[in-house]
Amino acid sequence: MAKIVITQKIPDIAEQMLKEAGYEVDVLSLAGPPTPTELKEKIKGATVLVADVNDKVDDELMAAGGEDLKLIANFAVGFNNIDLEAAHKRGIIVTNTPGSLTEAVAEHSIALILAVSKQIVPADQFVRSGKFHYWQPMGFLAPHLWGKTIGIVGLGQIGSALAAICFYGFKMNVLYNDIHRNERFEMDVKATYCELPDLLKQADIVSLNVPLLPSTHHLISTDQLKLMKKTSIIINTSRGPVIDEEALVKALQNKEIGGAGLDVFENEPDLQPGLDQLENVVLTPHIASATIEARDDMAVLVAKNVIAVLSGKPPISQVQFKPKE
Ligand code: GLV
Repeated sequence: MAKIVITQKIPDIAEQMLKEAGYEVDVLSLAGPPTPTELKEKIKGATVLVADVNDKVDDELMAAGGEDLKLIANFAVGFNNIDLEAAHKRGIIVTNTPGSLTEAVAEHSIALILAVSKQIVPADQFVRSGKFHYWQPMGFLAPHLWGKTIGIVGLGQIGSALAAICFYGFKMNVLYNDIHRNERFEMDVKATYCELPDLLKQADIVSLNVPLLPSTHHLISTDQLKLMKKTSIIINTSRGPVIDEEALVKALQNKEIGGAGLDVFENEPDLQPGLDQLENVVLTPHIASATIEARDDMAVLVAKNVIAVLSGKPPISQVQFKPKE
């Protein structure tokens, strides 16, 4: 019988669907994600590994899985934790969960934009620490978002959804940068395509929505941060290493940019020294896709991919190995 190993508890619907389809499901219930050694042990003899962003799925781990390992179904849209080349060489299919978390991540980006620009965290601390003695005409002043310019870096489903909220909700001007132009999107939200340096120069809010690939590693570093306005904020809900976090901390410390909202970190879960000391930064623990609906949809898509592959059908959302990215 096909054995499916799931490295952390995910919504029950996945386990139910897989058990109903007749598979043996082993949900690892350790105190946290398995260590590489634990995972190597647990994956032995598995047909499918349901991994998540914590699990480094490299050639060694795939080898430990053995001959029966057919599928790595990532419980995430990002797939930088998986060695796609090694999977390709071994004939192991890799799937992810696109589409299921689009709205959740776009909403979280808005939450970070609002929290950073409206100084929600320091304002909350101000009230809690008993400093709110009277209303101050000049207290916590911030520019409003209405009519400002958002620069979307990476126009996938999440970037497009975020742009729509900003355009329809806040009447923002939309700039975008991507490897492809999208004329339909340009018409829908009156967006302007920009080269990255121009986008960085003009945007009041820069949102990173690219996958982590060799070509997007440190896409934003010292030179790029220097192009941004002193008042602009940067939002990252994609993957930490897209920003050079050391350069970001320096830019924030030197007030070269206005602030940052980060859901992901370069060496997750560790933070670059100094990051947690900055007032103009809001940090969340990689929870952008953590809505009940998104996580359920992700679980269903994982289960559908597993069932498709194990029944000899094409997967629903396969991640293709592209040698030159
Ligand atoms: C979460 O970070 C994901 O890639 O789904």
